[in-house]
Amino acid sequence: MSDDLKRKAAEAAMSEVKSGMRIGLGTGSTAKHFVDLLGAEVAKGFQCLCVPTSEATAAQARGLGIPLTTLDDIDSLDVTVDGADEIDRDFQLIKGGGGALLREKIVAAASARMIVIADDSKLVESLGRFALPIEVNPFGLAATERAIAGVMAEFGALGGKAVRQGEGAEPYLTDGGHYIVDASFGRISNAKALSLALLEIPGVVQHGLFIDLCSEAYLATPKGTIKLS
Ligand code: 5RP
Repeated sequence: MSDDLKRKAAEAAMSEVKSGMRIGLGTGSTAKHFVDLLGAEVAKGFQCLCVPTSEATAAQARGLGIPLTTLDDIDSLDVTVDGADEIDRDFQLIKGGGGALLREKIVAAASARMIVIADDSKLVESLGRFALPIEVNPFGLAATERAIAGVMAEFGALGGKAVRQGEGAEPYLTDGGHYIVDASFGRISNAKALSLALLEIPGVVQHGLFIDLCSEAYLATPKGTIKLS
């Protein structure tokens, strides 16, 4: 059911891409549908040049014959289509559940538009039910985790701890060679201030709060797909 909704959201976003566009390709199970649909169009002659947000998406896109480039070779993108873990009505997002938040944010920031595709379970009144993924440098991990715990206390998650993704001694490694730690804040009432506080920690590479990067979303519901903009 849910995968069907993800597909529907991806189908709706296809109406936003036109031949000749430069497109950012998101990461995750919803974005995967979009890449599949785009690949089918490319096979029929649709022209585009795309920047993938992860090695997984790059491999999928290559397999489908989608032409890829990098942000070293082009200045900007017309649109990025990506999933999200949470989206609120101000288009603030939590992303990074799939561990690709750093590249996703770089690509979104280089895009004229970012369109989120998701099933409607991702729409929330306020961010924070989903633990915030934070990408951290492995060096000095414990010091970074202590500093994140300090920010958690400051933002109302007193006693909260950052939890490293991965199994036991096998930490999850991002495409950039960093770790991801998850921080459960509960209701996030000031995402901008939280974003800045986290970025002040030297070992934090980036975090999954996407603020002022997105202003459009296709959300698929069992009754049909709605566009928020
Ligand atoms: C990956 C992401 C994904 O877009 C996010 O986790 C949503 O994934 P899915 O579409 O599988 O629910 O941010 O880093």
